[in-house]
Amino acid sequence: MFDTEEWIEVARSSDVREGVPFAVEVTGTPVALYRIEGQLYATSDICTHEEARLTEGFLEGCNIECPLHAACFDVTTGEAFGPFTDIDLKTYPVRQEQDRVFIRME
Ligand code: FES
Repeated sequence: MFDTEEWIEVARSSDVREGVPFAVEVTGTPVALYRIEGQLYATSDICTHEEARLTEGFLEGCNIECPLHAACFDVTTGEAFGPFTDIDLKTYPVRQEQDRVFIRME
């Protein structure tokens, strides 16, 4: 077991389906969860260009495309590429314990 004081439970494992971005709000912060090839990832849900929600965008492989102006980010690293922004997304450590998903906000 891990130190649950540092980790915040944010979803059920079954909520985060393969290839389908899942939005959660964690202590007032919009966070996007992703499952890619079985592995969980967590990033900010807000595009670094303007205020668009990335979970309303398009996920292809490990890349999410913003629904507003099509900036792209690698959700495994947060790296920005493509048009409109070169500011990377914040990423969060994420882990799964049985049917519970936790992230660490830091
Ligand atoms: S708001 Fe995301 S690319 Fe403009």
